[in-house]
Amino acid sequence: MITIDEPSAAASGAAATARFRTDKSPFQAVRDSPKDRVSELAREVLSAVHDTIRRHRVTYHEYNALKAWLIAVGADGEWPLFLDVWVEHAVEEVATDHRNGSKGTIEGPYYVPGSPECGAFATIPMRADERGVPLRWAGRITSVDGTPLQGSIELWHADADGRYSQFAPNLPEWNLRGTFTADPDGTFEITTIRPAPYQIPTDGSCGRLIAAAGWHAWRPAHLHVKVSAAGHQQLTTQLYFPDDPHNDDDIASAVKPELLLEPRTQSDGSQRVVYDFVLDPEKY
Ligand code: DHB
Ligand code: FE
Repeated sequence: MITIDEPSAAASGAAATARFRTDKSPFQAVRDSPKDRVSELAREVLSAVHDTIRRHRVTYHEYNALKAWLIAVGADGEWPLFLDVWVEHAVEEVATDHRNGSKGTIEGPYYVPGSPECGAFATIPMRADERGVPLRWAGRITSVDGTPLQGSIELWHADADGRYSQFAPNLPEWNLRGTFTADPDGTFEITTIRPAPYQIPTDGSCGRLIAAAGWHAWRPAHLHVKVSAAGHQQLTTQLYFPDDPHNDDDIASAVKPELLLEPRTQSDGSQRVVYDFVLDPEKY
């Protein structure tokens, strides 16, 4: 486990970079990329940069600001944050545009595989005094043809302070991270708390870009899930709450109308919601 002592962009950035490095597949992808493909993509990206420089008559002063900033992104370990906020949404769109089932969206930098198995009707691991509005979520997993699937849902989300376990200090290792395997009829019921809106770290290089451009750093409150079932394409998505002011201007451009929950508030102040998943088979 990666330990973090202080809440800072450098610490969460370093943890996100370390986590990415534990996964071997990206480095295999580097070795696998054919020369022609690399050449074509690299040329096009560079040429878009050159066009921008010419169109806006970019100065050496500005070029040096870019160089200094890019060096800082690496030094802060913020490449995973930068890419997942400003680039991943387009990759996700292309990767899933053939699907007929539930909508996906970006994974973001804070997924950790191997969260504790909780069962089909269960409470996610949380502290005894976990703050936040209790949320009970019932749903069902089916294939696009309606067949129930005994799939599993990996759920991870921020706490009531917008912090993710393993990326912010002083949180139990698997806090608000769990795996829920549905019953044979595809049903599940998960008890958790509502996460707070999340602000991407403002004290690192991504934060400096946001400040320099006069943008805001907010992602609306969201639940992250990965839904898997045998013979089906894994779904990576996020679910949002209808009353969040940042649903319309998410810094990570990852909100889709299909991903909005419709929670109902109960007399005890807790909320209930129903949200089902439909998975696409591996091959058509
Ligand atoms: C980032 C954080 C998230 O929680 C998320 O869902 C997407 C991106 C980020 O800080 O890059
Ligand atoms: Fe997130």
